[in-house]
Amino acid sequence: MNEFPRIFAHRGARSLAPENTMAAFVKAMEAGAHWIEFDVDIMGDGTLLIMHDNTFDRTTSGKGGYYDKTFSDLRKLDAGGWFSKTYRFEPVPELADVITFLNMNHMWANLEIKPCFGGPTLRERLVESVAASLNSLNDTEHLIVSSFDHDLLAAFHEARPEIDLGWLFLRESQPGPDWASGAPELECRAIHPDDTGLTEAEVARMLDAGFEVNVWTVNDLDRARELARWGVTGIFTDRPQDFPAPALTR
Ligand code: G3P
Ligand code: CA
Repeated sequence: MNEFPRIFAHRGARSLAPENTMAAFVKAMEAGAHWIEFDVDIMGDGTLLIMHDNTFDRTTSGKGGYYDKTFSDLRKLDAGGWFSKTYRFEPVPELADVITFLNMNHMWANLEIKPCFGGPTLRERLVESVAASLNSLNDTEHLIVSSFDHDLLAAFHEARPEIDLGWLFLRESQPGPDWASGAPELECRAIHPDDTGLTEAEVARMLDAGFEVNVWTVNDLDRARELARWGVTGIFTDRPQDFPAPALTR
């Protein structure tokens, strides 16, 4: 067991650069993180975009949802100016951009499929397109695909059964089956619980059931140390730069 859990730079190093942009992924790499976490959803024309929210409002210069928009709309956006002037005109990446980054830099990833609200056809297309895009990723051994939407996760598992899955959930309010029944059903590698109020006993149950446990989102080093003592295998953090070098394990 490593001294410290694996560090996932959450939406990239989002404390240093605008989340889910190439700048944030580069910052994560510069901070010494080997794993990045990022969010993938789909636009009306099938473009796979890297974005946390289902509207452009919070993290770009655009407005409204994107399930009825296209690639040409995406290219007009500034996804960095909201964060600081330094990042003005930073583009919203597509999944293909992130895959190229991972390949070129030998970085590893947790790809989160967002709970697409664009209707059944787009939902199906999202899963199919992510599954197909991953043919371009060199190292699928060090990839974990997760989703709060366990129907999408199940569909992805059907499409790419060889790729490791994380059972992502919000412990207090997740609808549907709990991790103890849902994660084995999908043959998940890992459980991805939220950190708020997470106890040692809960972590022990997950570990004893044979899963890795990757906890989100942990920005406090002392809390990370406590989780490490409990045996968690990974933490997601917005602040990979705060963690000591031994924390940045593969
Ligand atoms: O995958 C861990 C974490 O990213 C889940 O929450 O809302 O930041 O996507 P959120
Ligand atoms: Ca995420």
